[in-house]
Amino acid sequence: MSIGQTLLGALIVLFHILTDRFLEFILGWCLGPRRCVSTPRSVEQQVLLSKSAVDLAQQIRERKLKSYDIVKAYCERISIVNRELNAVVDGPFREALQQAQQIDINMAANAYSEQQLQELPFLGVPFTTKDSTAVAGKLQTMGLVARKQERANQDAEIVRLMKASGAIIIATSNVPELNKWMETRNMLIGGTNNPYDLRRSVGGSSGGEGALIAASCTAFGLGTDIGGSIRIPAFNCGIFGHKVTSCAINMAGCSFRTGKETDTMVVAGPMTRHAKDLRPIMNVLLEPSLRPVMKLDQPVDVKRLRYFYSPKIGIRWCNPINRETESVMVKVRQHFEALSGQQVRSVELPHSNIANKMWRYWMTQEPANFSLMLGNGVVLNPFVELFKKLLGKSNYTMAAVLALLDTVLPKESEALMRDATIKCKSYLQELLGDDGVLFFHSSPRTAPFHYYPLFKFLDFHYFSLFNVLRLPVTQVPMGLDSNGMPLGIQVIANHNNDRLCLAVAEELERAFGGWVPPFPLKL
Ligand SMILES: *[C@@H]1O[C@H](CO)[C@@H](O)[C@H](O)[C@H]1NC(C)=O
Ligand SMILES: *[C@@H]1O[C@H](CO)[C@@H](O)[C@H](O)[C@H]1NC(C)=O
Repeated sequence: MSIGQTLLGALIVLFHILTDRFLEFILGWCLGPRRCVSTPRSVEQQVLLSKSAVDLAQQIRERKLKSYDIVKAYCERISIVNRELNAVVDGPFREALQQAQQIDINMAANAYSEQQLQELPFLGVPFTTKDSTAVAGKLQTMGLVARKQERANQDAEIVRLMKASGAIIIATSNVPELNKWMETRNMLIGGTNNPYDLRRSVGGSSGGEGALIAASCTAFGLGTDIGGSIRIPAFNCGIFGHKVTSCAINMAGCSFRTGKETDTMVVAGPMTRHAKDLRPIMNVLLEPSLRPVMKLDQPVDVKRLRYFYSPKIGIRWCNPINRETESVMVKVRQHFEALSGQQVRSVELPHSNIANKMWRYWMTQEPANFSLMLGNGVVLNPFVELFKKLLGKSNYTMAAVLALLDTVLPKESEALMRDATIKCKSYLQELLGDDGVLFFHSSPRTAPFHYYPLFKFLDFHYFSLFNVLRLPVTQVPMGLDSNGMPLGIQVIANHNNDRLCLAVAEELERAFGGWVPPFPLKL
């Protein structure tokens, strides 16, 4: 590298540090003192509401817990803390209590055969999903003022499957307009607040889910991810989220998808407080034809896997990795070096420094027409919308207007982007093979204040790169930083090797503690 380039690089880093500090200072000052979400009413509630979905299911089965008591506790918790989080669009649903009661009556009467119980792995366990995923009879606003009253008439396939596994839906949660931003805010519900610090962003687009799960308002949630929409909120809210291998889950009914789209970046996946919940939920959602390929239930020996890490993405306009984030990677490397007896090798992913452009190109290959959908059937003029926004007369957030403006900017070169994607993907697939795992930073820094991403938004490409590559990724919480905000890491494996990500996530949870409640504990 020449002296000129080195100097330019140093100036850019300085620019990032200064703007980051400046935004933290200004926004922090505007938003006032830090507050986190309230603690559950009693120690018993706290224990009940913190349990894993798998444990709840087991204890309902063993008749140690009643589904009614669990659903009631979560619904009450939602009613109390939604005032702080502003995360719910529709719910809590009254009929959820009736469904739970019926399950308890059936359990008491031994009405389920062994066979039936096996087909109902989540019998009586409450869950939530984002507003953009259809739940029959419930609101599906997509965060649009024009869709204020719109209800879905049919369950999305993932919701249908989850209900068929015995789980009970208790609410739907907030999203940015059409899921197209890395914060969760719209003009209908407003912005959703981070349980660890109500002034900070929950991320997006499954941000309502992130907040509800982290704050113990639901046993687990279902998200969707086209550019980090499961992993950004999972990271910001300190929980687990799994972006499944592309096309492994039927997307019918998720943000108006038909389920017939091929070669799309969007996938659905579980979001949970506990790593061990991810696999059984995936087992429910997975396309039957992929079961034999994915072998989710095949045991994984994490001591015998090969591990790699990539120190940075290389996009100039991303924040540099900060000290506390860096130390997460160091701890993870040390842990897996000790465990496997092998070096965790540093790798540089070819073309990751243009991940932003690759993602932007692949977004134009998606079936959705953003301008048309945002206008609810009317094509919007970005400049008119910007003008209206500046006059304070818009039905859209500034984020949506920016995303709209992006649609009229020059497009990326198709040939270059396809070529870069193929090169990056084949390098990584060859590297990982059938037993390799890559660690990648989730973000250069922890959850920013509300509105920060309007000024600096490229950091989310640490997530979007793996939508471009269509690979499975688990977002894993890794404790809190000095601001009390969740740290985390991404765990990546080869196509259909989701079970490796999940096994490593469980190992990380065992070693580093996983989810840390966002509220002060009653002991
Ligand atoms: C906002 O939406 C409402 C309800 O759909 C509509 O009546 C109003 O005209 C819209 N405002 C603007 C500025 O488009
Ligand atoms: C979206 O739909 C409108 C109206 O049909 C069309 O004019 C526009 O070109 C479409 N945009 C894209 C990106 O397909």
